[in-house]
Amino acid sequence: MVNIKEHHYPGYESVIEGKDAASGLHCLIAVHNTHLGPALGGTRMYPYASREEAMTDVLRLSEGMTYKSAVAGIGLGGGKSVILGDPKKDKSPELLRAFGRVVDTLKGRYICAEDMGTTTADMDEIRRGTEFVVGLDLIGSSGNPAPFTAWGVYRGLQSVSQELFRTDSLKGKRVGIVGLGAVGKRLADRLFWDGAELVLGDVDRELAQRMGKQYGAEVLPPEEALLAECDILSPCAVGGMLNPTTISQLRCRAIAGAANNQLLQVSDGDLLKERGILYAPDFVINAGGIINVAFELESQGYEAKKAKEKVDGIYVTLGEIYQLAKEQGVATSEAADLLAKRKVEKREGKRKAEVCFHR
Ligand code: NAI
Repeated sequence: MVNIKEHHYPGYESVIEGKDAASGLHCLIAVHNTHLGPALGGTRMYPYASREEAMTDVLRLSEGMTYKSAVAGIGLGGGKSVILGDPKKDKSPELLRAFGRVVDTLKGRYICAEDMGTTTADMDEIRRGTEFVVGLDLIGSSGNPAPFTAWGVYRGLQSVSQELFRTDSLKGKRVGIVGLGAVGKRLADRLFWDGAELVLGDVDRELAQRMGKQYGAEVLPPEEALLAECDILSPCAVGGMLNPTTISQLRCRAIAGAANNQLLQVSDGDLLKERGILYAPDFVINAGGIINVAFELESQGYEAKKAKEKVDGIYVTLGEIYQLAKEQGVATSEAADLLAKRKVEKREGKRKAEVCFHR
């Protein structure tokens, strides 16, 4: 029997805590906002130091999802879930099924998906406890989000190029990519064939060297690649890379990358503005993955071409954000927040059709 406790946090629609003694499950689910549609957000499994730390994480991440989905225009709200525990040691089919039963108590107001510490195979197991899950390992699923995220980031690079250099072409542009994983490596490949000049960095030095050879790129230690002279910097590794220390040393004209939470703190957006560096806000440019998975919920089922077309829209949305930032005299990061909040408040892009689960 799963034990559910409800909590009340101002500004959040529902926050629940689920426990199951038999499997050792301890989880938190936050539904921040469903004005535009049911809340979709990943299930993170992580060995949090405390319940408080997990709560802070789930509240912060679920709110972020509200704004990400609102700006992406996918008719979904914001939610997130965390399972407290070490995915390597504490995960079991019983625990995942019990988690599914906790998700099920929200009756579709929250839909879970893969995130840090969980896999598509885990989603299949969770599905034995609830139908409200996407990103399953099945035909008809949206599959790996990384190619769509990389495509959205590429369109974001084009948007900054258009804004600064009045061209979508990245030929001859010097682009620094920090982080050459699932997204970064795809972006590097695309840019190579476009004729961009690449500077690459990754903590995995061997990977960086290999890719440097493949694409005739300059390879630098990651902390140097971040500060390399370039037209566009693309942070595709971890969060917090843009902070007062690094921002003062950046030698790029624009930043357009996949990493989540690139700014260490809100005020770093202003620092970038002061330095005249155009910043494509992270939660807008990296929405390709969530846009793609959202297409699983359409009545006609998942269609890759439609998902790609929607991801293309990131280019236009970013252009609107640069414009809004100019009009309001604020940083682009602040303009993105303003746009997101306006959409939620005015119910712009509210889902019209019911979500469908195709199995
Ligand atoms: P990944 O785990 O496949 O690759 C990350 C790469 O960054 C690895 O090669 C790793 O060695 C490198 N790295 C880690 N720490 C680093 C550091 N301090 N300096 C330089 N390199 C470092 O991750 P993925 O999927 O490519 O995602 C990249 C970023 O984009 C992450 O922040 C992720 O949260 C974000 N993101 C990814 C999405 C996706 O669809 N995969 C969707 C939205 C955001």
